[in-house]
Amino acid sequence: MPVEIAPNVYWVGAIDWTMRDFHGYLTEAGSTYNAYLIVDEKVTLIDTVKKSFLAEMMARISEIIPPERIDYIISNHTEMDHSGALAETIARVRPEKVFCSPLGKVGLSRHFKEEWPFVEVKTGTELALGRFHLLFLETPMLHWPDSMMTFLREEQILFSSDGFGAHYASSQRLIRNRHDCPPGYFYQLKKYYANILMPMGTLISQLLEKVAKLGLECKIIASDHGCVYENPGWVLEAYKDWAAGVTQPKALVIYDTMWHSTELLAKSFLEGLMEAGVEAQLHHLRTTHYSDIVTELLDAPLFLVGSPTLNNGMFPSMGQFLTYLKGLKPKKKAAMAFGSYGWSGQAVGLINKELEAMGLKPVHEGFQVRYIPDPEELNQARALGAQLAREHVRAG
Ligand code: FEO
Repeated sequence: MPVEIAPNVYWVGAIDWTMRDFHGYLTEAGSTYNAYLIVDEKVTLIDTVKKSFLAEMMARISEIIPPERIDYIISNHTEMDHSGALAETIARVRPEKVFCSPLGKVGLSRHFKEEWPFVEVKTGTELALGRFHLLFLETPMLHWPDSMMTFLREEQILFSSDGFGAHYASSQRLIRNRHDCPPGYFYQLKKYYANILMPMGTLISQLLEKVAKLGLECKIIASDHGCVYENPGWVLEAYKDWAAGVTQPKALVIYDTMWHSTELLAKSFLEGLMEAGVEAQLHHLRTTHYSDIVTELLDAPLFLVGSPTLNNGMFPSMGQFLTYLKGLKPKKKAAMAFGSYGWSGQAVGLINKELEAMGLKPVHEGFQVRYIPDPEELNQARALGAQLAREHVRAG
């Protein structure tokens, strides 16, 4: 069934209940691919869905109008979860025009190798559909070069592409206020930001300023993933905080272990953090998925990373985590490496190099023990944890 989100504006997307992996990001709550239909003199479809969900989208459109009545298609974003069904949709609908950003045209042409009736639009371009008017807003690198958003003036709806999205499958389509979120939704909103948009914090701050400067008051935000937000102030506030790097009084200890020595240290650091009165979290890299760890890291000002030395290097799981984290360009975080070793002990130094390569300055040269930590070393780790918390975590 389609859902009317405003008079003559419908959600006609698809719900992916079973998707659990989005190029490496664990999507335990599934997702949706949101497409929207505006019924006016020019019937307009905004975005499509992943290719395998074409029939689901077409069935929803068909409950409103025959799909062949669509005049315009707007492609806010080239990535295949939104354009995957575009070729089949265009072949059936034969739209008069396909609107996209200039780099959207480049991306769609490279993906589909088709001569479609493209119309390039830029920030400020307006399009009259009849009663309704659309305004386009380019949002390059949020999160692809082609990305743009579309604003429906009369209903004050921002079709925000991936922005403000959440990988969350549910029968609920509309969230009326923060208290109306389905269970676990806010975590998925944050997880999406952390795993997809964290590197673009500055661009997001600029976007929020641009939206305010253009006087675009958003009554509804209709993203390409998750639910549609009425009264979206709480989502905008959350984005503002995440983009600005606002932190909570919390710290993370992230580790892997071979014979539990590094784990003993991890737990001692954790004890110290707890003694200092901050929210402390312990994450074993083989039990917490890295996409969840970075979600928690988003608003943590301090994290400790521990690995034993294995074959003169760090554990592969730590290498994977640090590679992933480096791509997300975390900013303004205090970090420290720790670990255990038998005879060579390179892991801590290698972790420090990785931290520096991602632009973070380790706040300590690193803490490591040979073979098994003794009670005094564990006490030192505990005291150091408490000290780092006092020095680098703002009290709650
Ligand atoms: Fe949901 Fe960038 O695609």
